[in-house]
Amino acid sequence: MRLKNKTAIITGGSSGIGRAAALRFSLEGAQVVVADINEEVGLETIKEIKDSGGEAQFQKIDVSIPEEVEHLVKTTVETFGKLDIMINNAGISHGEKKISDVPIEDWDKVVDVSMKSVFLGMKYAAPEMLENGGSIINTASVAGIKGQKLLAGYTAAKSGVIAITKSTALEYGKHNIRVNAIAPGIVETAITDEWKKSPKWPALSTANALRRLGQPEEVSNAMLFLASDESSFVTGTTLVVDGGTLLGR
Ligand SMILES: NC(=O)c1ccc[n+]([C@@H]2O[C@H](COP(=O)([O-])OP(=O)(O)OC[C@H]3O[C@@H](n4cnc5c(N)ncnc54)[C@H](O)[C@@H]3O)[C@@H](O)[C@H]2O)c1
Repeated sequence: MRLKNKTAIITGGSSGIGRAAALRFSLEGAQVVVADINEEVGLETIKEIKDSGGEAQFQKIDVSIPEEVEHLVKTTVETFGKLDIMINNAGISHGEKKISDVPIEDWDKVVDVSMKSVFLGMKYAAPEMLENGGSIINTASVAGIKGQKLLAGYTAAKSGVIAITKSTALEYGKHNIRVNAIAPGIVETAITDEWKKSPKWPALSTANALRRLGQPEEVSNAMLFLASDESSFVTGTTLVVDGGTLLGR
C-alpha cells in the first residue's frame, strides 16, 4: 500500500477526478476526508469506500468560504491526529463567453471556487504539516498553461493555481512539505457533460495525440504518485495529464 496510515483531505471529492482520487487513495491505505458542496453524491462516494473496507468521512463545505475550510482542516486533525495529504481539487468553469460578456459575479465565483479555494486550502493545511512534512496537490488545467479562448476567468484561475503552487513550494520545501499541481486535459466528468452539447465537441474530445478523452482514474493515478513517497524529490511542478493536448494535433 502506497499511502498506508496517511490522512488525506480531497476537496471536490464527491464526483469526477476527486472521487476517483478518494477511492484510489483509500485502496492504497489512506484515511480519506471528502469535502464537497454536494452532500448527496459525496455520501455515495463515502459508502463505496466503506463498502470496500476503507475509512472515510464526508464534510459538506464551500471551498471558497474561509471559515469552512479552516473548520475542515481542524476537525480532520482532531479526528485522525494529523494531516499528510491535501488535495485542493474543487473547481468550476463558466460557460464560454467573450470577455465583454462575462458577468462580474461569474468571474468572481469562478476565481473564488477555483483559485481562492487553493489559497485557503494551503493556508490552513500547511501549518498542520510542519511537524511531519506532507504533500499538497492543487488541480490546475492545461487551460491555465496554454490559455483557452472564451474562458478567460477559468484560464486566469488555473494559471493562478500554478503560480501559487510554485510560490508555496519554495516557501515550504525546508519543512519537507511538497507542493505540486496537476494539469488535466479534457477528462470525462460532470464538467464535460455541459461541453458535450457544443457542436465543437466531436473535434474537441479528440484534440490530442491519443485522440480520446481522459478518464478520472487516469488523473487520480498521477495524484497518487504526487501524494506518495515515490515523488519525494518532486516539488513545485505541474504534472500535465492531457493525452498530449499541449502538443496540438
Ligand atoms: N474534467 C475536465 O476536463 C477537467 C480538465 C482540467 C481541469 N479540471 C479540474 O479538475 C477539478 C475537478 O473537476 P471534475 O472534472 O472532476 O468535475 P466535477 O464537477 O465532477 O467535480 C468537481 C467537484 O467539485 C465540487 N464543487 C464545486 N463547487 C464547490 C464548492 N464551492 N465547494 C466545494 N465543492 C465544490 C462539485 O460538487 C464536484 O463534486 C476541477 O478543479 C476542474 O477545474 C477538470
